[in-house]
Amino acid sequence: MDSILVTGNGPLNGQIPIAGAKNACLTLMPATLLSEEPLTLTNAPRLSDIKTMTALLQSLGAEVSSLQDGQVIAMSSHNLTSQTADYDIVRKMRASNLVLGPLLARFGQAVVSLPGGCAIGARPMDLHVEGLEALGAEIELKDGYLHARAPGGLKGAVHEMRFASVGATENIVMAATLAKGTTVLKNAAREPEIVDLVECLRKMGAQISGEGSSTIEIQGVDRLHGATHQVVTDRIELGTYMLAPAICGGEVELLGGRMSLVESFAAKLDAAGVSVAETQNGLKVARKNGRVQAVDVVTEPFPGFPTDLQAQMMALMCTAEGTSVLEERIFENRFMHAPELVRMGANIEVHGGTATVTGVEALKGAPVMATDLRASVSLILAGLAAEGETTVSRVYHLDRGYEHVVRKLEGVGAKIERIKGE
Ligand code: EPZ
Repeated sequence: MDSILVTGNGPLNGQIPIAGAKNACLTLMPATLLSEEPLTLTNAPRLSDIKTMTALLQSLGAEVSSLQDGQVIAMSSHNLTSQTADYDIVRKMRASNLVLGPLLARFGQAVVSLPGGCAIGARPMDLHVEGLEALGAEIELKDGYLHARAPGGLKGAVHEMRFASVGATENIVMAATLAKGTTVLKNAAREPEIVDLVECLRKMGAQISGEGSSTIEIQGVDRLHGATHQVVTDRIELGTYMLAPAICGGEVELLGGRMSLVESFAAKLDAAGVSVAETQNGLKVARKNGRVQAVDVVTEPFPGFPTDLQAQMMALMCTAEGTSVLEERIFENRFMHAPELVRMGANIEVHGGTATVTGVEALKGAPVMATDLRASVSLILAGLAAEGETTVSRVYHLDRGYEHVVRKLEGVGAKIERIKGE
């Protein structure tokens, strides 16, 4: 397994290009199942999760080709051969469950493995099932697979979700596009990736309104046609690299970044003494002066502070002045980066869903282990500012969600290299 060697190397300066959003692409790709006409995505990120979704769609019989070095994904599902998403793929990537709604809507049946737990939590699918059942689906759990049927087709309904689940919102909205009648989805998730999905579905002929708010209304149509859609910028990659100059000093411009994607995160950085300014080409980030100040963080559904930036923010708080309390309200086990940061000299106490970080002058490089996607990049951020060398192992986690990390950080002056493993 490969590892990444980072050596603290002072302030960072320059530009980092931000890629298309992994979590938008992973819901846009299954949307191809809703139509027999081609769907083409541009600005797609080059990530292992995208390869996994490609393999899943191909296992269903869809044609998926990756063009222009992976930045364009051309798909067609005019003659699918299966409606079963196998456990061996779904267990590797939870987002595989996003084929459930489209398969059910187009074919009236789907067999999708439950994803099983992952490092950050149990991640059940009850909210997906409740929403699809509200549209008339019959779903039963057998041998670890959800067996879903809608023999007479799905019917529009008014449904309020118990929690604003991102994936459940995406599955229900995609299913509702081909249901008979009108669906009103209440307490819907408001993430930019859902807005991006709706914009793509609208290009395919779907009739949807309210995306980005808590209530989304969908008028079912008989069929959807093909489209070409540009994947929205990745706000989590954006937020991650905004922290690089915040942690190391210097000034970095994030190309393609937009303030509307990271408003609550940028507000937290501002409160901590880090300026974020919109430029013609993106966002420019630099410390306002001296040491960063500790701030408290509570993770919430969008537009609140993103859970996917909690680990990275903790890395910044490790050397901030004062004490920061980070409350993780979305996942039940998302502090696995804390013990690794403690190995680097951080002062962190975790009690249940709350981590208390007391800033220290500087971290010290150490061998650490990546445990999940966002934890892996928080360790790299910490290593950028630490004294000495940090080796982050198990970087396959990183490859799931960050393309060309070494190249992007080297480009702004970081001392970082990838060490080939056995
Ligand atoms: C999406 O996961 C993202 N993944 C996650 O990003 C992100 O952390 C999460 O949304 C929250 O923003 C993709 O978009 C591919 P949820 P998702 O359904 O849809 C519970 C990353 O790092 N829940 O909003 O699975 C669930 O257990 C990944 O890129 C139920 O209880 O998230 C969790 O505690 C990690 N029942 C909470 O809701 C359900 O049926 C949020 O889950 C569904 C979810």
